[in-house]
Amino acid sequence: MRHLLSAADLDRDEAVLVLDTAEQMAQTQHREIKKLPTLRGRTVINLFFEDSTRTRVSFEAAAKRLSADVINFSAKGSSVSKGESLKDTALTLQAMGADAVVIRHGASGAPHRLATSGWIDSSVVNAGDGTHEHPTQALLDAFTMRHHLVGNREHGAAAGQDLKGKRVTIVGDVLHSRVARSNVLLLHSLGAEVTLVAPPTLLPQRVDAWPCATSYDLDASLPEADAVMMLRVQRERMNAAYFPSAREYSRRYGLDARRLRLLQDHTIVMHPGPMNRGLEISADAADCERSTIVEQVGNGVSVRMAVLYLLLAGGEREEVSR
Ligand code: CP
Repeated sequence: MRHLLSAADLDRDEAVLVLDTAEQMAQTQHREIKKLPTLRGRTVINLFFEDSTRTRVSFEAAAKRLSADVINFSAKGSSVSKGESLKDTALTLQAMGADAVVIRHGASGAPHRLATSGWIDSSVVNAGDGTHEHPTQALLDAFTMRHHLVGNREHGAAAGQDLKGKRVTIVGDVLHSRVARSNVLLLHSLGAEVTLVAPPTLLPQRVDAWPCATSYDLDASLPEADAVMMLRVQRERMNAAYFPSAREYSRRYGLDARRLRLLQDHTIVMHPGPMNRGLEISADAADCERSTIVEQVGNGVSVRMAVLYLLLAGGEREEVSR
């Protein structure tokens, strides 16, 4: 694997390898080994043109735990605000020497452009591009589902396994969600059955071509689900045609205490964050015992360590759990 641009870059075996490697990374953390020397002398640049809390911080933590040098670049306060292009920004960073560039950008396709342009030599990791994809979010979500839904939840118990036959319901603003698209692609590769539940105005026009089912009826979908993933309503990308009323949206598509009672005992409640509490998810649901929302953030570090390790360690791979 040279780059990670899309969840579709990973077939079933490659996705399981990332998840198994993340298990090993998590074990090193549980053993309180603060740092692995694996990426000593390598440089990871975090290139963020859009705001982020979880993704940016966890990529930084992941790179540092692998002993890489980390350069954090934020478009705010940089020469991007003076009109500098992606190409000139990339050439500038290339001159500083980067082994991996982790990029978040508002334009769908920007990571692909960076990876294929010839402007830089480094590996490129998509940390979220426009409404297109967010593959490491899908990987950390699958890692979390595997822990809860496969095996006996002990660390490493799910090694080598996929999510065959598990039912995942993804709810809400699919139209603007890069998380939804990456999850559908990855979960399909891992054998899970995905249902997207959304109002008609918040489903993409060509969703019929996605490898999943669709529904407008949340109450009917919840009792079937092993995992329910609520999506953030991206009001900054909306107009009234998509989203007439917050109260109506919550009533039809919000997860609240009444809807929690429709779930099976083992079903987990997920959200990629950041959440609009009281809109797509109530405080009852966000903070309930079956919520994995905080756990997902922690798992993001292990998964991103695995991705950087598999991209950069190459032939020098060593047994990371040692
Ligand atoms: N889930 C996610 O991508 O969160 P951030 O925008 O905080 O990185």
